[in-house]
Amino acid sequence: MASNKFEVTLEKIVSLCKRRGFVFPSAEIYSGLNGVYDFGPLGVTLKQNIKKLWLENMQKWPEDVVQLDGAILGAESVFKASGHIDNFIDPMVDCLNCKKRFRSDELDLDKPCPSCGIKNWTEVRQFNLMFKTEVGAMTGQGNFGYLRPETAQSIFINFKNVLSSTRVKIPFGIAQIGKAYRNEITPKQFLFRMREFEQMEMEFFCKGENADKFFDTWVERRSQFYKDLGLDQKKVRLRPHEKDELAHYSKHCIDVEYEFPFGFKELEGIANRTDYDLSQHIKHSKKDLSVFDTDKNESYVPHVIECSVGVERLFLTILFDAYREDEVEGESRTLLKLSPKIAPITAAILPLSKKLSENSKKIYEQLKFNGFKVQFDESGSIGKRYRRQDEIGTPVCLTYDFDSEKDQKVTVRNRDTLKQERISIDQIEKYLKDLLQK
Ligand code: GAP
Repeated sequence: MASNKFEVTLEKIVSLCKRRGFVFPSAEIYSGLNGVYDFGPLGVTLKQNIKKLWLENMQKWPEDVVQLDGAILGAESVFKASGHIDNFIDPMVDCLNCKKRFRSDELDLDKPCPSCGIKNWTEVRQFNLMFKTEVGAMTGQGNFGYLRPETAQSIFINFKNVLSSTRVKIPFGIAQIGKAYRNEITPKQFLFRMREFEQMEMEFFCKGENADKFFDTWVERRSQFYKDLGLDQKKVRLRPHEKDELAHYSKHCIDVEYEFPFGFKELEGIANRTDYDLSQHIKHSKKDLSVFDTDKNESYVPHVIECSVGVERLFLTILFDAYREDEVEGESRTLLKLSPKIAPITAAILPLSKKLSENSKKIYEQLKFNGFKVQFDESGSIGKRYRRQDEIGTPVCLTYDFDSEKDQKVTVRNRDTLKQERISIDQIEKYLKDLLQK
């Protein structure tokens, strides 16, 4: 195996995702919808694996972290209180010559338009990123709702419901995985900035005097998560926000950034949101969302530490990080060096000849029945089949050959080392379980 110098580009990732059924542009047969994507069979599984790992990680600490699945459609009053109606805006500018639209904070307006080369800008306008819709059968009545721009608000408005209906006590967290929508002015870089995406957010409620301590704790835990995920640590960094870039609700924020081919960019935001959100909802709803401190004999409004990451943004990060090109026996190959924990397929079962299909398929069916993510592939040369599996990140291939009929063993071929070893068919499940533990 010769290791090649290769460049991972966005184009290569987009093409692999389409070719192998990870991600498709939405409504492609109608020329697509900008910033919106559909996930194919392998993409769905990869996403599920990412979400499962995130949740397991959130729930393994001493403090309770419970789950919520809030509504996507949100009442106007919620986003008035949260500040999104007034503050969730990006500055927008148009080129009067070519009519292209940009975020003005991503341009130098003293320079000409990057698209047509002419300098003829409109005034900068503020654009609210929320999708607004009318609710109810009667239009024109002014009953507006919004597709939520973050999952967090449904956690805040349900904070008291969770506290009073479960046995959790402060400090504790509420985690949510769900869709969020932003009418981004310039959706770009594939899954990096989308208009419809999923967030994995956890709001951790604690006493104000403990907020700084828990902020540091969660920064540490989240950094460890990305180490455990196997991301190249040279490409991961923590970047504290400057005062002028803090969101309207946050006192302190650290971004976990990853070095994409288009530079270091935010992967996850960890923020100290103080008591801003609960206080705003107390003020606007006139409901008491405070908690009684029996030690001090007084009520207080909890502070919140938030960890928030986009599922698709992490998905894209994982693909960039795992992408490799090398050469095997004079032939070039593309592989995804995915951890077995997140690889959509754990093992492929490959009969060496179609004559061996019947017995090898029994192994595949048994593994599938027992919950393993496996694929059966009997078409094309064995080399071609290995390449197909390498490209979708399958950690091992199990080849069933003529000897297997006699010795009841298969050859395990490792995606990364290309090493081959014979193992008994009755040991396959244990082998795969061990692999999934790594
Ligand atoms: N509740 C806090 C919040 O929403 P954010 O920094 O706006 O904070 C959190 O978003 C995370 O959600 C980001 O770090 C990113 O991973 C993901 N995200 C935000 N906007 C996105 C978009 N347009 N497309 C894909 N992911 C996005």
